[in-house]
Amino acid sequence: MSDPIRFYHRGAIHSVNDAPPTRTILEHIRESLHCSGTKEGCAEGDCGACMVVVGELQGDHIELKAINSCIQLLPALNGKALYTVENLKQSDGTLHPVQQAMVACHGSQCGFCTPGFVMSLWSFYLQHAGKSTPPERREINDALSGNLCRCTGYRPIIEAAQYMMTLPPVAFDHAHLKWQLSGLQSDAMWTYSWQGKQGSQPQHFYAPRTIAELLALRTAHPAASILAGSTDVGLWVTKQFRDLGDIIYLGHVNELKEIKEQNGILEIGAVVSLNHAFTALCRHYPEALAELWQRFASHPIRNVGTLGGNLANGSPIGDSMPFLIVLGAEIVLRGNSGQRVLPLENFYLSYQKKDLREDEFVEAVRVPFPNPHLCFRTYKLAKRFDQDISAVCAAFSLILDGDIVSDARIAFGGLAAIPKRAAHAEAALVGKIWNEGTLNTARAMLAQDYAPLSDMRASSQYRMRAAQNLLRRFWLETRLDAPLATDAVNVFSGS
Ligand SMILES: Cc1cc2nc3c(=O)[nH]c(=O)nc-3n(C[C@H](O)[C@H](O)[C@H](O)COP(=O)(O)OP(=O)(O)OC[C@H]3O[C@@H](n4cnc5c(N)ncnc54)[C@H](O)[C@@H]3O)c2cc1C
Ligand code: FES
Ligand code: FES
Repeated sequence: MSDPIRFYHRGAIHSVNDAPPTRTILEHIRESLHCSGTKEGCAEGDCGACMVVVGELQGDHIELKAINSCIQLLPALNGKALYTVENLKQSDGTLHPVQQAMVACHGSQCGFCTPGFVMSLWSFYLQHAGKSTPPERREINDALSGNLCRCTGYRPIIEAAQYMMTLPPVAFDHAHLKWQLSGLQSDAMWTYSWQGKQGSQPQHFYAPRTIAELLALRTAHPAASILAGSTDVGLWVTKQFRDLGDIIYLGHVNELKEIKEQNGILEIGAVVSLNHAFTALCRHYPEALAELWQRFASHPIRNVGTLGGNLANGSPIGDSMPFLIVLGAEIVLRGNSGQRVLPLENFYLSYQKKDLREDEFVEAVRVPFPNPHLCFRTYKLAKRFDQDISAVCAAFSLILDGDIVSDARIAFGGLAAIPKRAAHAEAALVGKIWNEGTLNTARAMLAQDYAPLSDMRASSQYRMRAAQNLLRRFWLETRLDAPLATDAVNVFSGS
């Protein structure tokens, strides 16, 4: 029996029962709700023209986050609230401070990107409301990292982000939304079914609430596609026109959204968003991970994309695997025969092939707390600071016993078909003094560990040279002897 997709938008509950499960939220907004303020630019989560804000009940509070509606599937909106740019104008016709500031600061020229920027700014406005200090430039840049503008040069938009906070505030009615959303919740598993052409098989979108329900669905429908934050899967729909078949959505399984800390281990549930996962990781590894967090996709992609999805997708250029592998993280899998725990590096078998059985799913990742003697860094090389895929992603960790390397772990993304450790380079480090001679031997050994490909992001030679230079950068940042004045130059020349 199919339940309709129900969500709250512009003061009303909407109910949909005639849309394919792979219809995107953006398509529904423009073609069915006729709210044409929200635009389509890239249809792959890159440009932000389609930005909307989604409100969701999390326990007893409301979480409001900016998301890219072009890659989100409509059934994932069930039980949530949708805010589009049409929501912002006040009932008396006054513009919202975000809009007033965009006008006053000349934040719009051709206007195509403007609704998307307005929604990212509104989400930021809501998060910043009530704080006594003005937002920092760094916070504004991050909030806008998922929006591209080809006209303004960004300065006026950033000024608008500062100015909007100085205007008379407009409060958001959390209590009203909580009341509306409470009426849309149910403890039962939610299933949406759609019958396409007459006589064809119906397509199902299952949203289990518990791990037990999820396991039963995996067993009953082994060919169904698992969907978490949809930031990879959404593109299979919009760019590759793939048929996903039946879909099992993990977004309602609260047991997979937990973050636990016990016995020196941080355990992050598979459906924890990238932003929440990095918040937890950065509490333990603030210096090493802060920059990668900011450079991982964009703020709205991290709002919905999950750490479990990044690991399960297992792209050779994924950014979380190299650092988790060098930290000795374990992946927790669950299937009918119970839990299986693997060192993360053993999960990746060959290109797009993982050690994941038909009835299994990723339940969590376990990351050890830092060892006091650990030197650890991770570096992302991409053409842009944010919202760009890595050409090379490197992670290094050493345990030093005095000046001797007692343990070394090196892993790279972008150099092989899977995220992979550098066994030869690691062997060249262990038991040696952490000095330039040891470093140079290990750098040479990287050529035995990897034979990188050339593609549109980088040539094979660039990737190898970059990998060797990143190892040198790691040494420069963690060396025990006094640095030389020429080192800053050498890191770029690779000498
Ligand atoms: C604009 C843009 C920028 C991006 N930038 C980056 C970047 O900088 N670095 C980077 O590494 N990635 C990037 N990505 C990729 C993507 O955001 C990440 O891989 C993200 O972590 C995927 O998580 P998700 O929850 O969205 O997964 P989904 O898209 O929902 O799923 C991804 C895959 O994992 C499977 N899956 C998900 N969860 C589970 C589970 N618990 N158990 C078993 N299988 C599961 C799905 O079946 C699917 O095969 C970017 C994507 C976009 C659109
Ligand atoms: S249309 Fe470009 S991010 Fe959605
Ligand atoms: S105003 Fe033209 S793209 Fe931004």
